Amino acid sequence: MTFLITAGPTREFIDPVRFISNRSTGKMGFALAEAAAEKHGVILIAGPVALPTPPGAKRVDVTTALEMLEQVLHYLPVSDVLVMCAAVADWRPKQTSPVKLKKRDTAPLLELEPNPDILASVKPLKGKRTFIGFAAETGDPEVEARRKLAVKGLDMIVANDVSQPDAGFEVDTNRVRLITPDSDQSLPLMSKLETARRIIDWAEKR
Ligand code: PMT
Repeated sequence: MTFLITAGPTREFIDPVRFISNRSTGKMGFALAEAAAEKHGVILIAGPVALPTPPGAKRVDVTTALEMLEQVLHYLPVSDVLVMCAAVADWRPKQTSPVKLKKRDTAPLLELEPNPDILASVKPLKGKRTFIGFAAETGDPEVEARRKLAVKGLDMIVANDVSQPDAGFEVDTNRVRLITPDSDQSLPLMSKLETARRIIDWAEKR
C-alpha cells in the first residue's frame, strides 16, 4: 500500500518577509509517516517544518496551500490512502507585495481570500481510496468532526481538541477520537507515534 500523508502548516505570504501561518510543527504528520513507512510506501508532503525525514518516506516540501494542493493532486493517482494531517491555512492575503512593506504610522489593512479546501478538491478523485482527515477544534470536537467527516466525504476523521496542553499542536503527545460513519473510539493520551500507529492500523485493516 502507498500512503500519501500531509504534515505541518502552510505559509501565506504578505510580502517577502511576512506571512500568515499557524502553530503546526509537523510532529503528528511526521509520526504518521514514520508509522506507515514501517510497512508501506509513504509520500510525505511537508509544509515548512524543522524535522528530519522519517526513514523510508519520500518527502516533498511545499510552502503554500496552493503548492500543497498541487502536490496532493500529483501524487494521489499512485496512492491508496490519503491522510490530511496538515494544518492548511484557510485564507491567504489577496495580494502579496513583491517588496517588503514599509512600516508606516497606520498598519496596512489585510484583505484575505479563501484557499481551496484540499480535501474537497480531491473528493471527486477518491475512487476506492481511503481518505482520513483531522479536525482540530478548541473544545469538544465531536459536532464539527462529524460535520467535516460527512461534508468532506471521509472514511475516518481524527478529532483533536487542540485546547488541551498535552494534545494537538507542538507537543509530543496527543489525545484523539477516531470517528467513522459507524464507529467512535476515544484513544487515551499517548505519544504521537503510538497514536499514528493506531490510525495506520485502522487504514490497513479497512
Ligand atoms: O503539527 P503538530 O504540531 O504535531 O500538530 C498536529 C495538528 C494539531 C496540526 C494535527 O493533529 C491536526 O489536527 N491537523 C489538522 C489541522 C486542521 O487544519 O484541521 P481543520 O479542522 O481546520 O481541517 C479539517 C481537515 O481539512 C484537515 O484534515 C485538514 O488537513 C483539511 N483541510 C483544511 C483546510 C484546507 N484548506 N484544506 C484541507 O484539506
